[in-house]
Amino acid sequence: MLPLTLFCLLQAYLSYAQTTPGLAIGSLTTITDANVTNNQGFRLPASSNLSVSIALCSSSSNSPRFLVTNNTDITLPGPSGGTDVYEIELSDGYGNWSGSTPEGGVLAVLNAGQAPFEVGVSDGEAGPMHEILPTIPLLGETTSNQALIFSPPFSPPPIVSPSYPNYTLPPANLTYPEQPSTAAATNFTLVLAPTSSSLASQLQTGCSLTSSPSQAGSQIFQSLWLRDEKGWRSQWLMGGLTPLTNYTAYVVTNQTKVSGPIYFTTKSALFSCPIVHSLPYCPAVSYAAPLLPPPVGFDAHDARTVPDSVSSPLISGLGNFSTMLTTIACGRDIYSPIQTCADCQREYRNWLCAISFPRCSEESPPSSSSTTSVASQETGAQKPLSALVPVASNLPPRSNPAMPNATTGYDMLLPCLETCTAVDRACPYFLGFKCPLPQFNANVSYGVGFIDSGVAGQQGGGATGVSQDRWGNVWCHGPGMEEGA
Ligand SMILES: *[C@@H]1O[C@H](CO)[C@@H](O)[C@H](O)[C@H]1NC(C)=O
Ligand SMILES: *[C@@H]1O[C@H](CO)[C@@H](O)[C@H](O)[C@H]1NC(C)=O
Ligand SMILES: *[C@@H]1O[C@H](CO)[C@@H](O)[C@H](O)[C@H]1NC(C)=O
Ligand SMILES: *[C@@H]1O[C@H](CO)[C@@H](O)[C@H](O)[C@H]1NC(C)=O
Ligand SMILES: *[C@@H]1O[C@H](CO)[C@@H](O)[C@H](O)[C@H]1NC(C)=O
Ligand SMILES: *[C@@H]1O[C@H](CO)[C@@H](O)[C@H](O)[C@H]1NC(C)=O
Ligand SMILES: *[C@@H]1O[C@H](CO)[C@@H](O)[C@H](O)[C@H]1NC(C)=O
Ligand SMILES: *[C@@H]1O[C@H](CO)[C@@H](O)[C@H](O)[C@H]1NC(C)=O
Ligand SMILES: *[C@@H]1O[C@H](CO)[C@@H](O)[C@H](O)[C@H]1NC(C)=O
Ligand SMILES: *[C@@H]1O[C@H](CO)[C@@H](O)[C@H](O)[C@H]1NC(C)=O
Ligand SMILES: *[C@@H]1O[C@H](CO)[C@@H](O)[C@H](O)[C@H]1NC(C)=O
Ligand SMILES: *[C@@H]1O[C@H](CO)[C@@H](O)[C@H](O)[C@H]1NC(C)=O
Repeated sequence: MLPLTLFCLLQAYLSYAQTTPGLAIGSLTTITDANVTNNQGFRLPASSNLSVSIALCSSSSNSPRFLVTNNTDITLPGPSGGTDVYEIELSDGYGNWSGSTPEGGVLAVLNAGQAPFEVGVSDGEAGPMHEILPTIPLLGETTSNQALIFSPPFSPPPIVSPSYPNYTLPPANLTYPEQPSTAAATNFTLVLAPTSSSLASQLQTGCSLTSSPSQAGSQIFQSLWLRDEKGWRSQWLMGGLTPLTNYTAYVVTNQTKVSGPIYFTTKSALFSCPIVHSLPYCPAVSYAAPLLPPPVGFDAHDARTVPDSVSSPLISGLGNFSTMLTTIACGRDIYSPIQTCADCQREYRNWLCAISFPRCSEESPPSSSSTTSVASQETGAQKPLSALVPVASNLPPRSNPAMPNATTGYDMLLPCLETCTAVDRACPYFLGFKCPLPQFNANVSYGVGFIDSGVAGQQGGGATGVSQDRWGNVWCHGPGMEEGA
């Protein structure tokens, strides 16, 4: 008969040996209190560059502790440490360890069962699986009860530069490219909640955010969209929101990578312009435009519902411009050391789309001034006013007479002057494309002085530097000129 203490030790050892599950490279394991013992070990795989990351899924005053060892002499690392025993310190619910595990290792969870958590195991250059991304989601637009939101970009498209003598520009009526395989494999989750639910002051881990009970709205659709050369994005059209309400949004990628928060306010119940999105020939158009409501069965306009009277002249005008552009021998008659015909066509498309689809907006509610950037709060700087001009009912917008006459008046958000100067800079002089000068009434047709300084049109140094920020302020209509975009 064995002495009792030895018997207990053996019992402990046997039960440990039976319940040390292995964690594979590339695995994401959710541990709830139901299936861990109080001090739980997990075997780690061998790797020359292993990353182990932890994310707590709910906060707890008595959080578990995590210890890693790559010393195979240690069966279960304990709080007293030892050679090659490392504690993973948690900060805001996150923690990680990276190192080499030539013969594998062990992760020990002490005081488990207090809070659910995730363990991610990865290797190589990719780094820890859990991460707060530096890039933020992008607000496309809000209406009184909808919001169009984009994930940060990923998988930028390959740059194909046409070359002389076969210098072929993309067609005016662009065909939409096929999405890359990484896009299909990536899992995007939008987390949207009223700002009043204080999501931003809770744990900022993916599993905590996606399980938040305060989420709002209903998804109308989600798809992948190549908005610009920065890359593909997941886009969501959300419905069922409340007018004039502050919302907070995050995007969680592959359940582990968190970007956000961004903030925005829905428009008033009187706002009547519908959202237009997913137009292959105008990839950056994703906002409210003064069109009639979409037909029954559609929640917003897309390429199927935009009237021909608007899309045809646009595509025809872009085609004519491309024809004119290629009367110079593109790729041979170099007109600029840094710009090409393809750059010129791209910037012209961006400008023409912004002009052809004017953007509706609304004066921000006065109280929302406190949502402006912390910087302006600290400096006490005056928030600049958005470049809005009223358009009366029964008139088409000045920039595009082909638009239908709106039945009610609305405020138009002027394009940022920089959408025009980008064409001026990228295109050959002979095309005669000219932008109005800031000192001569450019502010009648454009938002001036937000991105570039207004005085002499100098690049940079404008009042805001961006067309819109993560706090929901939108100053001028500048696709591609947003914060975090
Ligand atoms: C713990 O339980 C959850 C679901 O209850 C499961 O997804 C997970 O794989 C389990 N973990 C282990 C290590 O068995
Ligand atoms: C364990 O990891 C640390 C940090 O990466 C490293 O310095 C040490 O050599 C490793 N020990 C073994 C036995 O591989
Ligand atoms: C190990 O991974 C890190 C990222 O976690 C990376 O910066 C580093 O270059 C990698 N080292 C080797 C030797 O691959
Ligand atoms: C991973 O660990 C490094 C070094 O301790 C730390 O700088 C980084 O913020 C950690 N990442 C996460 C997501 O916790
Ligand atoms: C010119 O380039 C286009 C697109 O890159 C290609 O489709 C076409 O076949 C090429 N034409 C000739 C004559 O090489
Ligand atoms: C998400 O996971 C898939 C499959 O594991 C991978 O191919 C993709 O690159 C990941 N995406 C991101 C943005 O990490
Ligand atoms: C995406 O993540 C959700 C949880 O956030 C999960 O239920 C779903 O299975 C994942 N889809 C894929 C394709 O990985
Ligand atoms: C939105 O939030 C700001 C401060 O964050 C607040 O001043 C404002 O009243 C809020 N607006 C609404 C409609 O709740
Ligand atoms: C543009 O292309 C789409 C699909 O290829 C087609 O349905 C549409 O009629 C075209 N529009 C014009 C104005 O050519
Ligand atoms: C493009 O050129 C054709 C032929 O010259 C002309 O009929 C058409 O009106 C032009 N399109 C636009 C939008 O100017
Ligand atoms: C818009 O109204 C003007 C008069 O206000 C009229 O001349 C024009 O034909 C109308 N346009 C459309 C598309 O109905
Ligand atoms: C537009 O610019 C002119 C001259 O620069 C200035 O006098 C006028 O007040 C500006 N108008 C607006 C609405 O900012």
